[in-house]
Formats: sequence, C-alpha cells, structure tokens
Amino acid sequence: MAEEAVLEYLQTHEEIVDSGEFADSKGLEHSDLLSVIKSLNGFRLVDAEDIKREKWILTEEGQAYASSGSPEVQFFLAIPPEGISREELQRRVDGSLYKIGSSQAMKNKWVELGKLLVSRKVESVEDRVRELLIKIKEGEGKDVDLKDIDALKKRKLIALQTWKGYSLRKGPNYAPKRMKAATDLTREQLQKGNWQELEFKEYNFNALGQPTEGGHLHPLLKVRQQFREIFLEMGFEEMPTNNFVESSFWNFDVLFQPQQHPARDSHDTFFLKVPASTQRLPEDYLERVKKVHESGGYGSKGYGYDWKREEAEKNLLRTHTTAVSSRMLYTLAQKPFTPKRYFSIDRVFRNEAVDRTHLAEFHQIEGVVCDRGLTLGDLIGVLNDFFSRLGMTKIKFKPAYNPYTEPSMEIFSYHEGFKKWVEVGNSGMFRPEMLLPMGLPEDVTVIAWGLSLERPTMILYGIDNIRDLFGPKVDLNLIKRNPISRLGVQ
Ligand code: PHE
Repeated sequence: MAEEAVLEYLQTHEEIVDSGEFADSKGLEHSDLLSVIKSLNGFRLVDAEDIKREKWILTEEGQAYASSGSPEVQFFLAIPPEGISREELQRRVDGSLYKIGSSQAMKNKWVELGKLLVSRKVESVEDRVRELLIKIKEGEGKDVDLKDIDALKKRKLIALQTWKGYSLRKGPNYAPKRMKAATDLTREQLQKGNWQELEFKEYNFNALGQPTEGGHLHPLLKVRQQFREIFLEMGFEEMPTNNFVESSFWNFDVLFQPQQHPARDSHDTFFLKVPASTQRLPEDYLERVKKVHESGGYGSKGYGYDWKREEAEKNLLRTHTTAVSSRMLYTLAQKPFTPKRYFSIDRVFRNEAVDRTHLAEFHQIEGVVCDRGLTLGDLIGVLNDFFSRLGMTKIKFKPAYNPYTEPSMEIFSYHEGFKKWVEVGNSGMFRPEMLLPMGLPEDVTVIAWGLSLERPTMILYGIDNIRDLFGPKVDLNLIKRNPISRLGVQ
C-alpha cells in the first residue's frame, strides 16, 4: 500500500518533500514507509535524500508535569490562603515535589517561607510550565520561546530528538507500478520474445552461494590423518605409496617369499593382464635375490629351488605395503647408511572372498625402523609406544610366521569394550636374506609392523560391516555426518 501511494504520488508530483508528513497525510506508519522507500531507492525507482529534523520531546518528568501540573503550582495549591505550618505542608506534598516546588515557587515569589508558617504571596498563579510542556507535546515546539525552551531543558523536562526521514523524487527506473524483476532468462521468455521488455534483476556478486555439498572426509581418511600424526610425532617419514601396480619382484621376491608360496597364487593375488610383466629390474640386485632364494648365502641355506625371472616380472596389484618398504630399504642401501624411521598408509589388494570383515581392497598402515643393532626388545618398545598413543596400553605378543621376518609376532590388544584380546597387527624383524642382498651393512637390523586401517576405523565409528564403510553400498550421509573420531577414546 505504501509503495503504491509513493509511486502514484510521484506520477503527478515532482517531489515528496517530507516522508514524515507524507506518512501522516496518507495515514501510514512512518516506519513502514521507510522500508518501502529503502527498497524503491535500492532499485532506483525513486531517488531518496536524507532529511533530518530535530524535535523537542518531553522527558518522563516532563510528561508527569504535563498531566498533573508543575511542582511549583502543585506546591502553591497545597498552601491554604491562611498559611500552613512547614510540617503539615511536608505531610501534604511529596518529598521531591516539595523540594523542587518550593524552590521554584520561591524563585517566582509566589510564596513566603517563614520560620513557622508557609504562606502565599499572591492570590493565584498560572501554570506556564505545564502549558509550555503541553504545547511541546502536541508538536508545537516551534512556537515556544527560546528562553523558555532553554529553561525547560535545564530542568530536564524536555530533550532533543532527531527525526530521520527522506525527501523523494522519481529515480532513473521510475515506473508508476513496480514490475517484478525477472531473475532468470527462461525458454518461455525466449519463445514469446517478451524477454526484451522484461526488467532483469541485477546479479548480486556479494551474495554468499549455497553451501557446497562436497568436501566431506571419509572416516578412513580422518583416521588415516590421526595415524599419520602419531607417526610424525614419533619422528617417522612418510614413504611414497603412489604405485598400486607393483612387480612380483618387489612385492614378493625381495622379501624372500618363495615363488611357490600360496600367497603368490592368483587365488590370493590380482595379477595384471596388461602390462603383464615388468620390463626393468635392477640387474645385479636381481642376481643376488635369485641366489639367496636358490642357494642362500649370508649364513642361510636358501630354499633350494629354481628361481624364475618370469615369475618375478609378473605385475600385480600390491598385496601389502611391505612392497613399498622393500623399495625404500633398497634405495636406502644404495647410499652410505643412515638410520631411518619410515611409515606408510595406503591401499593394498587381495583376491579374497568378500564378507562382512573382508574386502578385496583395504588399507595398511606400516612402520619401519632401521638402525644398527636393533633387537626384538626395540621392536616391543616401539610397538608399546605406538599402540599406547592409540589408547591401547595393554599389549600382548604371540609368535607368528612371515616369510620375510624372523622372529615375527602378532600383536594383541585388550579391548575394554569387547572384554577380550583382539588382534591388532603383525610385526617382526626383517630377515638377513632380505636385507643383506640389498646391500645394507651387516650390523643394521630393521624392525617393522603392519596393521589395517579399516579395523580401528570400524571400531571407532561403530561400524560392524566393512561394506558399510567402503565400496558402492556406503551411505553418503555417514560420511557427511560423522565427526572426527579421536583415537584412544573408544
Ligand atoms: N606385510 C604384513 C601383512 O601384510 C604386515 C607386516 C609388516 C609384518 C611388516 C611384518 C612386518 O600382514
């Protein structure tokens, strides 16, 4: 309504001089009119110019006197023509009213304050203060004498209020009626051709867009980050794990895993069809690996079989991240020895039947420490340190077998929730048959351990079917919803 009133008025008038007066004349609330003006001005239908007016208004005290009379008059009227004792008058007139009233009445020479008696000096009085206040209240402050205004201001009966409004003229986009601006160019507008007449809303480049739906980290990535931080705190460097495709040589042979080992069967390992084999392998190292498998060396008897290069050249999807460790250790052995702590967290693949705890691909976490003279005691110490940082303080070890470690230990942790010992990883000291052909010095030993990333993640996020965590059946809301889950507070 206010909008139409403004636009209509400007159709026949040059200007709305004062929005306040305009609101009054149209029976509108000025505050409602203001929001309409802001919008019309924003779209340049009108040009609004600020106007400011200052106006005297009554203070609370002023209001009170405007309705029941000034204190001096109230004081005067409380005195009977024959006079009255001070005590009696004090009983009749309120404390503050008495104080203000008596002093103003004295100033006006209306009363006399004798020792005993208070008496009138004049017969009657006029309440000018009240009249002035009423005038101001009714908006006729302009007619009040400056001297009077000053006196009222000093008595804090009136105060200045700034009033803000606008004067209005037609803007560059003026129209007698606002057309709703089109926000999109539609097929229909193009077909009808009316896009040419339409007013299009301008782009608001400052508007914030819709929050993006992407960018949620998968629980596995959140837990991976925590493991990463633990390793980094312990002084480990991350190994490059960016090759899912590996040759059998680095995945198995260099780890002293015999070529007839069941893990090397296609039932357990995914072999590549294209390219089926690796072209390049380090030749003299390959010779040493072949020899250690066939006839041993370095105090070992070897396996006593015919080692075949074609078997080592077969490409596969790496079955464990120890393939990464073996490459790193070989690289390390090519330079003068320095102690190292390495870790990796990445994906591995096994040709396994999928069930609620197994997938054909999963993630392994691996830690490797190489230094001179490390012992099984060092391995146990590092494992205790590592797992206690995960909140697992009760750790037990069980002898185990890996082709590439001796001794080997499975790691168990007591799970307070499940009230039982659960297997959390596998570990060992790499065999000399693996390390010495690489060229590492004889007194260097390497301790290592591995665990899956999925298992702790499932425990932390309360997921009991691995297919709910990874793969095509994952509920995306799980990923959007789940907070970062802290390791160690299970
Ligand atoms: N590679 C082993 C596995 O896949 C884990 C492991 C790593 C064991 C390092 C010993 C040393 O289970």
